[in-house]
Amino acid sequence: MPARSPAPAESAPDRGRLGGETVDVLIPEERVRARVDELGRQITRDYAGRPVVLVGVLKGALVFLADLMRALDLPLTLDFVGLSSYVGTGSTGEVTVTSDLTRPIEGLDVLLVEDIVDTGLTMRWLLDHLAQRRPASLAICALLVKPSRARAEVPVRYRGFEIGDDFVVGYGLDVDGRLRNLPYVGVVRR
Ligand code: IMP
Ligand code: MG
Repeated sequence: MPARSPAPAESAPDRGRLGGETVDVLIPEERVRARVDELGRQITRDYAGRPVVLVGVLKGALVFLADLMRALDLPLTLDFVGLSSYVGTGSTGEVTVTSDLTRPIEGLDVLLVEDIVDTGLTMRWLLDHLAQRRPASLAICALLVKPSRARAEVPVRYRGFEIGDDFVVGYGLDVDGRLRNLPYVGVVRR
C-alpha cells in the first residue's frame, strides 16, 4: 500500500483527538522526542551494559516508556505496576496496587518509569513498597516533575522536564482518562 499523502495544511490534525477540548501546547512533540533521546543516552551510559528491569507505572507512563525503551542501548526486560491513589481534592498518599509485577525483582537493577511526579506521594509509597523486595538498585525516571507541589522526598534521578503547577495532559497523561494520545504535553484551557 502506498503511503497516504499528508493532510492539507489547513486541517487541524488534533481535532479528532481533542474531542472538543482546547489544549495549549506546553512542550512540543519535537522537544519531548529530543529530551527522551537524551535521557536514553544518559541512562545507557550510567548502566553501562548491565541488565535493567524497566517498570512502567500504568497507565500514564505507557507512551513515555515506549519511546524511552527504544532509546536505551541496554539488555532490558519490562514489567508494569498498576496503582490507584485515593483521590478527592488531590493525592492523599494512600496507595493500593491494582496490578502487581509479574516477576521478582530481588537482586536486579530496577528503573521505575513514571509520567509525572506531582506531590511525590505516589512514588514515595511505591519506592518503599518495592524496596522490601530487595532489588540491587531502585531508581526513578520521570518525564515531568512539578517541584512546587512536592510533599514527599522523592529522588528522581532522571527527569525530563520541570514544570509549574498546571495540570497537564498528553503524551500518556490524562484528564478523566482522556487526551492520553496527544503527541505533545499540553494544558487544557478552561
Ligand atoms: P503524585 O501527586 O505525585 O502522587 O501524583 C500521582 C499521580 O497523579 C501521577 O502519577 C499522575 O498519574 C497524576 N497526576 C499528577 N499531576 C498530573 C497532571 O498534571 N496531569 C495528569 N495527571 C497528573
Ligand atoms: Mg500516574
